[in-house]
Parts: sequence; structure tokens; C-alpha cells
Amino acid sequence: MSKVTVIGAGNVGATCANVLAHKDIVKEVVLLDIVGNLAKGKALDSWQQAPIDYYSTHLVGTDDYAATADSDIVVITAGVPRKPGMSRDDLISTNAKIVNSVTESIMKHSSNPIIIVVSNPLDVMTYASWKSSGLDSSRVMGMAGILDTARYRAFLAEALNVSPKDIQAVLMGGHGDTMVPLPRYTTVSGIPLTELLDSETIEKIVNRTRVGGGELVQLMGTSAWYAPGAAAAQMVETILKDEHRIFPCCVRLSGEYGLDNIFLGVPVKLGKNGIEQIIELSLNEQEMKLLKESAEHVAAVRDVFDNMSL
Ligand code: NAI
Ligand code: 2OP
Repeated sequence: MSKVTVIGAGNVGATCANVLAHKDIVKEVVLLDIVGNLAKGKALDSWQQAPIDYYSTHLVGTDDYAATADSDIVVITAGVPRKPGMSRDDLISTNAKIVNSVTESIMKHSSNPIIIVVSNPLDVMTYASWKSSGLDSSRVMGMAGILDTARYRAFLAEALNVSPKDIQAVLMGGHGDTMVPLPRYTTVSGIPLTELLDSETIEKIVNRTRVGGGELVQLMGTSAWYAPGAAAAQMVETILKDEHRIFPCCVRLSGEYGLDNIFLGVPVKLGKNGIEQIIELSLNEQEMKLLKESAEHVAAVRDVFDNMSL
């Protein structure tokens, strides 16, 4: 049985820890926050749910990295979320410093963990964590694509009046308004989406997906947590069970899709070693153009991070 640490006991981190405990696949989940009592309180609350919901995963809350020692997987959710009117990129000056110091602290206590970054701006924070961890790039990845495809699939399920379970989809690019949902690679129980919905409706859903995070910020005054926490927990599950499931994740590209030294969302196979394969789709001209535009946007934010010289 394994040990998983979740850094940041706020909305996303606490949800991720709680969803993970419900899966009952981990011996211990350590929830760490700079606000120690917050982590202790939420971990204790989740542990007291165990007799009701029948799981054995023990949850520990702390502000001390010693408790994270020898973690198999670490999920980083520490940082500030956006408020209405802010883009994810506006968070970089605060969150870059947090993600760097969190990663350094993790690495003092776990020698070869797999790191899943959630903090925004996601693609560049994943790059930041990879750089300060010194880990192989197959062991550092960002969570965004599972969430963004889940939003896309949920909107499609409503439009088609079908179960979201039956909608399979791929989405690529950065975790921002330039993300690239791919209707050509979307099916409903194997039936191409384009045979079930007209192009105008598909385009509306694609556009709603691109700003799906912002829609929730407008509604709640802060960003989402149920679906994000569950998405990060799903990545942990796939890795721990060595399932080799294919999900869009933010990973380091070294020539794939003609892109180099950039962390960006692409479909990957996840297993016990982290990213076991990057899958290269045969994108058409328009899809490739959108992916390149998204990569250019992420590269510009990455350059801002590099110029911060942390
Ligand atoms: P939150 O404000 O509820 O929680 C963040 C937690 O991080 C707080 O409890 C805070 O005390 C803690 N923290 C701050 N600095 C820390 C440090 N140095 N060490 C340990 N803990 C520290 O925010 P929420 O809603 O949980 O979001 C967290 C991050 O995840 C944000 O950056 C948000 O933008 C991002 N996010 C990313 C998503 C994605 O798809 N990748 C989806 C949803 C949120
Ligand atoms: C989301 O997409 C804000 O990245 C966060 O909900």
C-alpha cells in the first residue's frame, strides 16, 4: 500500500484527499498546509468519515514536511486561486514562489516521488516544479486535461441527453482559454460526435469549455474544487494501480507535435512509472494551428517565469 501527500489543504487539496480516501487504495494520505491547523482539521474530519463510508485510508494533517517522508506521489495544490476578473496567468508571481519552495521541501523528504501539479498557471507551474525537483520529466505532470475534458463531456451529455459515462474525448494545449477541444476525436459510445450534433452546437460547447473555469469563478467568487480534486485523485489512482489509462495531462514535450522544452496538455498513458507514453495524434492543419497558438501562449508565460530568476 502506498503513501500520497497532498500539499495545500484548501478547496482542491482537501477534496482530492477526501476523494482519494474514498477510493481506499492508499494506506496513508498526508495533507499539508502552511496553515497547519487547517490541514489537521480537514484530515481529522475526513478520517472520521471513514467508519461511515467504509474506507481504511488513514488521513494525517500537518504543517511539517517530515510527515511527508517517502511519499510515492505528491499532489501540489498550494497557491492562491483566481478571483473574478483574473486570468490564471495573473497568479504567477505569487504561485511560482510557492510551487518552487514546496517542491524543494518535498524533495528533502522523498527521493523519487511522482509529482502531480494542480496550482495555476498550470502548465508553467508544472514546468517550475519539474525544474526545482530535478526529477525525470516522466515523473512530473500537471492536472488540467482530465478536468477540461470532463467539463466538455458534461456539456455534451446535457446537449445530447445521454449519460456522461458514454462520452469519450480528447483535448489538448494549455490550461487556459487557448485550450484545444477536439470534436474529431470525440465519440459517444463509439459513435462520432459529428454524426450526433450539428457543427454550430459543437462550436458553442467547445467555446463554453474553453472558458469553463471562468464560468465557475463568476458563479462562486473563487475557482472550482469538486471536479478538479476528483481529477487529480483519478491520476493518482491510475498511477498507483498501474492501469495504463490514457488521459490528457500536462507533460514535457521534447519534439512531439514539433514542440520542444514546453509543458503542455497532450494525451498520455499513465502507469506506475508516471508518464509511460506520449501519444501523438495525426492532427489536421487547423487543429495543429490551434495547438501551436496555445503553445505560444504558454511559452510566453514560461518566459515570464524564467525571467523571475527564482
Ligand atoms: P485555496 O485557497 O482554497 O487553497 C490553497 C491552499 O494553499 C490554502 O489552504 C493555502 O493556505 C495553501 N498554501 C499557500 N501557500 C502554501 C505553502 N507555501 N505551502 C503549503 N500550503 C500553502 O485554493 P484552491 O481553490 O484549493 O486552489 C489551489 C490552486 O489550484 C490554485 O492555484 C488554483 O488556481 C488551482 N486550480 C487548478 C486547477 C487545474 O485544473 N489545474 C483547477 C482548480 C484550481
Ligand atoms: C479551473 O479551471 C481555475 O484552473 C481552474 O477551474
